[in-house]
Amino acid sequence: MAFRPLKAKGPRGSASTVITTDLRRLPQHIAIIMDGNGRWAQLRGQPRPIGHKQGSESVRQIVRATRRLGIPALTLYAFSEQNWLRPLTEVDALMELLREFLLSEREEMLTNGIRLEFIGRTERLPSMVGNVLREVAKDTAGGKDMVLTLALSYGGREEIADAAKAIATRVKAGTLAPHEVDEELFGSLLPSMRSGPVDLLIRTGGEQRISNFLLWGAAYAELYFADRLWPEYAVEDLYEAIASFQSRDRRFGRVSSDGSASEEAAAKEEEPAEEVAVAPLRS
Ligand code: FPP
Repeated sequence: MAFRPLKAKGPRGSASTVITTDLRRLPQHIAIIMDGNGRWAQLRGQPRPIGHKQGSESVRQIVRATRRLGIPALTLYAFSEQNWLRPLTEVDALMELLREFLLSEREEMLTNGIRLEFIGRTERLPSMVGNVLREVAKDTAGGKDMVLTLALSYGGREEIADAAKAIATRVKAGTLAPHEVDEELFGSLLPSMRSGPVDLLIRTGGEQRISNFLLWGAAYAELYFADRLWPEYAVEDLYEAIASFQSRDRRFGRVSSDGSASEEAAAKEEEPAEEVAVAPLRS
């Protein structure tokens, strides 16, 4: 049987629905722009950091669900290079939440084979976050089941510019010839590509833009925009996004899969027929 119901209840409080997700065709790398924390708080007459706090609960749930599904890579846009321009109180609150998250999730990551990685100009982070980040990344380095990448002080253009700089330096030093510069080499210089190209890019909060996230790796990502604000984003919303991903015909610039020339259509036929079990999460 190819399909398996992943949930038996509808999005928060709605009538019961079942989303069927084909566990053999899961995205291998999901990236999320977690938007809407501030609005969630403001709608409740609360300061914005309260929205970020509630948002970090959603992070916990979504990380667990992704791991349970057996998806190997999840990248979260936790703090952009541009977010430094927010009010100091908000930046401080975010830093504190990041530290809390890292400390509280370290054990669960270790138990469940989750490797923590980070991308972005993390040297800009205050040491109370930077130190814990490096420690947890080191502690979980042996995790083989999923990589959770936090994008912190991250910008896609900045990352590309840094790679260009590294290439220019090598060419100038005579260790690289201009004709050797190709997509593969360029991609290998981008820390975000360690998790491979993005299959599914989700943005919550109703806005429909990429906001300088994973510009290179998301080149062929399926985009999914959810209206739900991040603090309310739940596991069933993730399943919905995955189901949408699975309903799409990914052509990578080739002809339609019903013309049987798409790589994915061919791969689908080769897949084994057994159902894949959802891995239990240890806590
Ligand atoms: C965007 O919402 C969200 C952020 C800038 C920060 C995301 C941070 C978290 C979800 C919590 C901490 C992270 C981890 C990994 C524990 P916004 O504030 O721009 O929302 P708005 O558009 O409603 O103003």
